[in-house]
Amino acid sequence: MTNIPATGRPRDEILGELAARKAGDRDWRRGRLAVYFYWLDEELERVQQEAYRAYWTENNLGQRAYPSLKSLEDEVIAMALSLLGGGERAGGTFTSGGSESIFLAMMAARNKARAARGISQPNIVLPDTAHLTFDRAAEALGLESRRVPVGPDLRADVAAMAARMDGNTVALVGSAPNYPFGTFDSIGDLAALAASRGIWMHVDACVGGFLAPYVRRLGHPIPDFDLSVPGVTSLSADIHKHGMAPKGASLLLVSDAADREWHRFESRAWQRGPYAAYTTQGTRPGGAVAAAWATMNHLGDEGYLRCASLIMEAKSIMTTGIAAIPGLAILEPSDLGIFVWRATDPALDIGKVAAALDAEGWLVGRQQEPDGVHLHLNPIHREVAEEYVDAVARAVAAARGGATARIAATQATY
Ligand SMILES: Cc1ncc(COP(=O)(O)O)c(C=O)c1O
Repeated sequence: MTNIPATGRPRDEILGELAARKAGDRDWRRGRLAVYFYWLDEELERVQQEAYRAYWTENNLGQRAYPSLKSLEDEVIAMALSLLGGGERAGGTFTSGGSESIFLAMMAARNKARAARGISQPNIVLPDTAHLTFDRAAEALGLESRRVPVGPDLRADVAAMAARMDGNTVALVGSAPNYPFGTFDSIGDLAALAASRGIWMHVDACVGGFLAPYVRRLGHPIPDFDLSVPGVTSLSADIHKHGMAPKGASLLLVSDAADREWHRFESRAWQRGPYAAYTTQGTRPGGAVAAAWATMNHLGDEGYLRCASLIMEAKSIMTTGIAAIPGLAILEPSDLGIFVWRATDPALDIGKVAAALDAEGWLVGRQQEPDGVHLHLNPIHREVAEEYVDAVARAVAAARGGATARIAATQATY
């Protein structure tokens, strides 16, 4: 059992212990992680830390005390709306992460359908590549989650999704892109389908929101996916992913700001007076807003383009290099910085290749379908792209040479 120490410990001792404990963690600054982090350079890191520190304990629930936080939050939302096709009527909410943005979107869809159509047994229809956080939201909100297998092109099968809809469907979901394969669903077709049935259409652009517009500007083909697509009701975009901000920053954007009311809670059922919030959080970290605002202003379009270019370069080097290793192939298609590689040679055990990579310090993301390795690139991977390909070649040789350690595809990915 660990107790709060009876007497406090000095600052140096505390900070020394934190540094010592951290020393055993994976080296994300050297690009050894395929997930969890987004990093460009030390300059951006300093900007973020100082911006966060400027509001390190301000509570963003209390905007009447901190009008500056409201102004920063409003500007973050406005910049994102302008990037992601928001029109005159659009609005948004700053949340703690993709999962909260998605929870609020599903809650709004349910509440709107309940009020407008009296739906009491609601369901949502989504491609089976959609993030599992939708299922967690569905469980908490009393929604049936209907996952529909994607087509051979790894994109939502719109006809099959239409067939799973019924009078109790309250939302359709598409990803831009999804996490397992990095492919975009056909948001235009899904949104048209949703509009034809008068239901909520949510675009999960948690990964793509702050990357896809810039990858498109670099000349890569990116399908239309944002709020400007007719029929799109809401879109989640994570500033703490490719928005490059520190953790605790995502947005739920809506084409019509009036739809924010469907995820608003308000009550007076206690002694203290009215309490209202658009988020599931009450107290909210002001530092996350300040750091997101600082990141967006510090990078600017130019910085985001640089990030996009580094990611696409890293992807090109890694996919070309890995595809040239006998027995391996890249799973196609993938539209942004997420991709999967796998074995084409049945004698090659990807679990053993993964273990050999892990032994060299690369944190491996195992993919269960198809049996493979999953990567989600961020700008720092450009610096290690060639090194990674060499490490994969060595790992394949180790797996073929009788290595016994293996990482199963079913091993926890989070
Ligand atoms: C496509 C997609 N949607 C949603 C999420 C959930 O976001 P968060 O982990 O910020 O809650 C993720 C996380 O990886 C994601 O990849």
